[in-house]
Amino acid sequence: MLHHPAILLLLHLLLALADHPPPSSTTVAAAPPRKSISEAANTAKPGCQTKCGDLTVPYPFGIGLNSGCSIGPWFDVNCDSSSSPHKPFIATGNLEIVDISDDQVRIKNWVAARCYTETGNITRQNTIAINFTGTPYSFSDSNRFTVVGCDDLAVIVGSSGRNFTSGCLSLCSQSSDIIDGFCTGIGCCQVPMPKGLKTFSSALASLNNHTRIHSFDPCGYAFIGDQERFQFHTSDLQDTGFQNRTIQNVPIVIDWAIGNANCDDAKKSADFACRENSVCIGSDTGLGGYRCNCSEGYEGNPYLSPGCTDINECESNPCDEHGICTNTPGSYSCSCGDGYNGDGRKDGQGCIAVNSQFPVIKFSIEITEENEALLGGQSGFASDLYAINVGPESSTGIYPIRDNLDDHMINPR
Ligand SMILES: *[C@@H]1O[C@H](CO)[C@@H](O)[C@H](O)[C@H]1NC(C)=O
Ligand SMILES: *[C@@H]1O[C@H](CO)[C@@H](O)[C@H](O)[C@H]1NC(C)=O
Ligand SMILES: *[C@@H]1O[C@H](CO)[C@@H](O)[C@H](O)[C@H]1NC(C)=O
Ligand SMILES: *[C@@H]1O[C@H](CO)[C@@H](O)[C@H](O)[C@H]1NC(C)=O
Ligand SMILES: *[C@@H]1O[C@H](CO)[C@@H](O)[C@H](O)[C@H]1NC(C)=O
Ligand SMILES: *[C@@H]1O[C@H](CO)[C@@H](O)[C@H](O)[C@H]1NC(C)=O
Repeated sequence: MLHHPAILLLLHLLLALADHPPPSSTTVAAAPPRKSISEAANTAKPGCQTKCGDLTVPYPFGIGLNSGCSIGPWFDVNCDSSSSPHKPFIATGNLEIVDISDDQVRIKNWVAARCYTETGNITRQNTIAINFTGTPYSFSDSNRFTVVGCDDLAVIVGSSGRNFTSGCLSLCSQSSDIIDGFCTGIGCCQVPMPKGLKTFSSALASLNNHTRIHSFDPCGYAFIGDQERFQFHTSDLQDTGFQNRTIQNVPIVIDWAIGNANCDDAKKSADFACRENSVCIGSDTGLGGYRCNCSEGYEGNPYLSPGCTDINECESNPCDEHGICTNTPGSYSCSCGDGYNGDGRKDGQGCIAVNSQFPVIKFSIEITEENEALLGGQSGFASDLYAINVGPESSTGIYPIRDNLDDHMINPR
């Protein structure tokens, strides 16, 4: 198998790439990282609080119900001052915000659980449902639906423009079968979620009520959450703190957008939210709506008057030590002082003393055998690359069970 010519060629290609990364032909200007709306100088509307507990709340969000600090009632952040630190919630509901970014909100998780006695009686259970219909929010595809347990299956039912149903089956017969760190159906299973879901509900079921595995796994759990933030561990099955830990540590990721019109239509409307020197970005959830970004070379909060302001790039000294930096709206330019030639840019030619020799060429492309083979053979390899057969990923069971899913619907209202 390893001697198949296509595979040898592919290996050769990979090794060649690893040994000789292709030289980059152009140097990309090291633009300063763009600031998020939470870092803008004008984060909140004038006269409004900026922080609730540890959370920075940037406009179009605003602290206080009906305080006029947000762009609309669904962007109101209800700051509960009875706890310390204060806790921020979306509007009048019980969804606690942990982060607000330029395009997403992260909220504290809700985890469905079902626990059993040795004889299979249910000791406690809860289902989970969140309904964002009529709000600017939808579930992000950064979430995954996860089931943890050794005798558990759960369905997820969601809706947006279309209906979504999926599920996950997680089984194991002994704890030694479980592989730490792998959520692939033994003790833990995961399915991806599409973007644009407006509602989500989930309930757990079991094949044998945990009677055969109770000694090492008394409960099953189901939740959606940021796929980057959850890693399955064998010890999770016996951890009585699992549900609370997951609620604290694995946020649910929510996409937000303003309205449901696209940019072209929104621009014609009197309440268009993007201010000067910003661009409108259409939401990619399929549900319509838009957000605003500062234009290239500008910073600030694009939703607040007077809009985004020019970045003085000269403050970060982008020009050669012999160069002269001139800030321009949205950009900057470099020139060279008397006695020097060049573009004046640190990331370009810089400034070269007129009398000095031509600058040394900074790198040369070494043509090695590997590179020749690589360059010459690339198109020929393409068909071989496609011919390599990758088996389907192991699929998880999908159980279209729909009982009791509407119980305990959490309504953010
Ligand atoms: C908007 O700005 C953010 C950084 O603030 C950037 O990551 C993102 O790519 C921008 N989006 C567009 C569509 O320009
Ligand atoms: C367990 O369930 C059985 C029937 O399924 C019932 O007879 C029994 O009383 C239950 N035990 C407890 C402790 O609830
Ligand atoms: C979600 O809420 C909307 C309106 O608030 C309601 O019409 C709809 O039936 C709810 N969806 C579910 C699945 O409960
Ligand atoms: C989604 O499901 C509901 C209830 O089962 C149904 O009334 C509705 O027509 C479905 N929507 C779509 C787009 O299939
Ligand atoms: C599991 O529990 C449910 C409800 O308590 C009961 O109806 C069902 O018969 C039990 N199943 C098994 C396999 O014990
Ligand atoms: C989980 O948190 C709830 C509410 O904060 C608390 O009542 C409960 O005792 C906690 N459970 C565990 C096992 O820590």
